[in-house]
Amino acid sequence: MQQKTIILLVAVAAIIGLAFGVYALTSPSDSNDMDGMPGMENMTESQMGQSQQDDTVREGETSVDIVNFAYAFDEVTVKKGTTVTWINQDDAAHDITADQESPDAPMSELLAKGESYSFTFDKVGEYSYYCTPHPYMTGKVTVVE
Ligand code: CO
Repeated sequence: MQQKTIILLVAVAAIIGLAFGVYALTSPSDSNDMDGMPGMENMTESQMGQSQQDDTVREGETSVDIVNFAYAFDEVTVKKGTTVTWINQDDAAHDITADQESPDAPMSELLAKGESYSFTFDKVGEYSYYCTPHPYMTGKVTVVE
């Protein structure tokens, strides 16, 4: 009889302790939940065009269309020795200008609608570029071995 009472008391104490523990864990954080709503800060799409990335490694010859004031795809990965051809599909004139001028990086004249520019990447590296009349138009070619 006495043993049963002790077991009952221990059980009640355990339940009360558990209840307080759960209350302590859940209660204080409730008031903070609305502080930091996940924002849109991480969005990196350019204002004029949708960002498109092609994860495949291209090889030989490949092309990048210029459509709606954007390079599509704007990030491509190619094997060393690959020729990339940019084709302007817009009525507006665009170009391909490397961020860092170099014989290893692309640099085109202004391309009218339907005109294209080809560049062969012979050196491993990352080549970021933009459009001179529209600097918000950006792209990158990553050259791998
Ligand atoms: Co442009």
